[in-house]
Amino acid sequence: MPEIETRAIPTLARQLTEAVGTAIATAYPEQAGADPLIRPSDHADLQANAALALAKKVGANPREVATRVSEAIPAGSAVGQVEISGPGFLNLTLADDALWTQAEARRADPRLGVPASQAGVRTVIDYSGPNIAKEMHVGHIRSTVIGDCLVRVLAFLGSEVIKQNHLGDWGTQFGMLIQYIVEHPDSPWRHAEIEGGAQPSPVSALDGLYRAARQLFDTDPQFADRARDRVVALQSGDAETLATWREIVAESQHYFDLVYTRLGVLLRAEDSRGESWYNDRLTAVADELAQAGIAVSSDGALVVLSEEVTGPDGQPAALMVRKRDGGYGYDTTDLATLQYRIAELDADRILYLVDARQTLHFRLLFEAARRAGWLTDEVQAVHVPFGSILGPDGKPFKTRSGETVRLMDLLDEAVAAAETVVREGAEAKGTALDEAALHEIAEQAGIGAVKYADLSGSRVKDYVFDTERMTAFNGNTGVYLQYAHTRLTSILRRATERGLSVPETAPSLDGAALEPAERALILTADSLADVLDAVAEDLEPHRLAGFCYDLARAFTDFYEACPVLGSDSPVRERRLALVDLTRRTLAKGLELLGIAAPERM
Ligand code: ARG
Repeated sequence: MPEIETRAIPTLARQLTEAVGTAIATAYPEQAGADPLIRPSDHADLQANAALALAKKVGANPREVATRVSEAIPAGSAVGQVEISGPGFLNLTLADDALWTQAEARRADPRLGVPASQAGVRTVIDYSGPNIAKEMHVGHIRSTVIGDCLVRVLAFLGSEVIKQNHLGDWGTQFGMLIQYIVEHPDSPWRHAEIEGGAQPSPVSALDGLYRAARQLFDTDPQFADRARDRVVALQSGDAETLATWREIVAESQHYFDLVYTRLGVLLRAEDSRGESWYNDRLTAVADELAQAGIAVSSDGALVVLSEEVTGPDGQPAALMVRKRDGGYGYDTTDLATLQYRIAELDADRILYLVDARQTLHFRLLFEAARRAGWLTDEVQAVHVPFGSILGPDGKPFKTRSGETVRLMDLLDEAVAAAETVVREGAEAKGTALDEAALHEIAEQAGIGAVKYADLSGSRVKDYVFDTERMTAFNGNTGVYLQYAHTRLTSILRRATERGLSVPETAPSLDGAALEPAERALILTADSLADVLDAVAEDLEPHRLAGFCYDLARAFTDFYEACPVLGSDSPVRERRLALVDLTRRTLAKGLELLGIAAPERM
C-alpha cells in the first residue's frame, strides 16, 4: 500500500483539547487525563466544559476550578484569551496568529493536513448488492450512495478498502427464468435485441420475463416441473444452462455499470463477487458448523439456533444453513462470504450496507460466525443499516400502478427538476449557458441532489423523495453546496482575470485582526479532519454533509461581510488565500460525498 504523504495537522479543537488537558493535569494532578470537553461556542471560538464535572470530583466550586485551570493553560498554546462564564465554562478565543498560521498550513498541504488516521486498517465494504435480472430500485440507491461515501472517506483516511458487490446472481428463481427463456426464444432481452425497442434496458426486459415465468410456474404444473429440472441443471453445471445464465449475468452487470457510471460511484464490474461465487464453499461451511455442533437439525433442515434472539413465538431465531430439500440459500452464502472475508481477504473491519429490514439476518450471521470462532475480537463486522425512501405521501415509494420505482426513472426526474432550476437561475443572472453546458450542469446538479438528500439525513431515518425540494438553490441541498463552489471558483477566476493571483503563501497578519466572519470560516474549514474521523467511527455520512453545509454558510457570511477583490493589499491577498482554502476544502468534502463540484452553474 502506498504511504500517504501528508503533513498531519491537528485541528484547532484538538490543539485546545491538548492545551486544556495539560492545564487540568497541572492544576489537579490527580485528575490528569480528564476530557476537557471542547465544544463549539456561541460566545467565543470554542469552549471547554470540563470544569463542572471536575468540580464535583475535587469537591470545589466550579468557577474556582475553571479559574485554576485557565491559569494553568500553557503559554504558547493556540489559546489567545480565556473568559469564565456562567457556572464555570471556559470561553476560549484563539489567537489571531494561531488561526492564520493554521489556515496557511492546511493550504500548503495537498491533503489539507488531514492525517491518515485509518492507515493500516483493511476495510471490506459490502454495498449496492442489486439482484441480477431484476430492476434496481430505490432501496438499492441508499446502499450504493452511502456505501460509496464510506469507501471514499475511509480510503482518503488511508484505509485499504476492498469494495464488494454481493450481487444476487444465484438461486432457484434462475431455473424458472432460464426455462422460460429457452421456451420463448423470440422474447427479446439481450442488449442487441432490445435496442430501440419498448424496453429501456435488458434488466427491465428480464424483469418482465421473470414475472411471466413466475406466473407460468404458479399456474402450469408441467412448466413448474421443467423449471425445477432446470434448477438442477444449473446447479450441476449443465453447459447450455450455464451459458444462458452467464449471459443474463453479463447483460445485467452491463446495465448496473451504466447506473454506477451515471451516479458517479466507484463500483466497477471487478468489485462484483456475487452469491454464485461462494457456491463451491457452501457444503464445507454447512459441514463445519454441523460438526462443531453449532448447526443442528430441525424438521429435516440444518439451522443455527440463536442463543441471543428469540422470535415472536418465543423460540430461538434460526439461521438456515441447509434447507430440507438439501438446497442452500442467502444465509449459507452469507456465512461463506463472511468466512472468506475474514480468512482470505484478511479484513480488520467489514461493513454491510444493507437496509434496516435485514437487521435480524446480520445479528444471527455475526453470532453464528462468533460461535464458529471465525469472527474474533480482532475483526469488527458491522451491519450499517438505513431507512427507506418514501414517496410524497409518506409511504414506501411506489409508482401510481403500485410498482416499485425504477432507479433510472428517479434520476431522470431529479435531473429534469435540476434543469429547470439551473435554467431559471441562469436566466435571472443573465449568464449565457448553451444547451450542452446546461444539460451537463443539470445532470451534475440532479444526481448531486439525489445523493445529497440521501447522505444529509441520519442514516436510519426514512426520508421523502421530493425532487423539487432537493434541487432548491437555497436550503440544505446539494445544489446549494455546488452553487457555493461555483461562487468560490468565480472569485478566483475574476482575480486571475485582473492579474491578481492567489498567493502561494499569504502575507502574515502582522498584528492585524481577523474579522469575526474570517475567524468562523477558518475554524469551520479547520474541522474537516475531526469530522472525517467521526464518520469513520460511527459511519454516519450526514456529519460530512453537515460540515459542507456549515462551510458553505460560513463562506456566505464571510462573502457578505468581507470584500475580497474590492479590498486593498495585503487584506486582499489574505482573503484570496481564504477563498482558495475554502474552495479546496469544500471540493474535498463534495468529492468524499461523491458529489460533483461544477465550476459554474
Ligand atoms: N442482494 C441483496 C438484496 O437485494 C443485498 C445483499 C447484501 N449483502 C449481503 N452480504 N447480504 O437485498
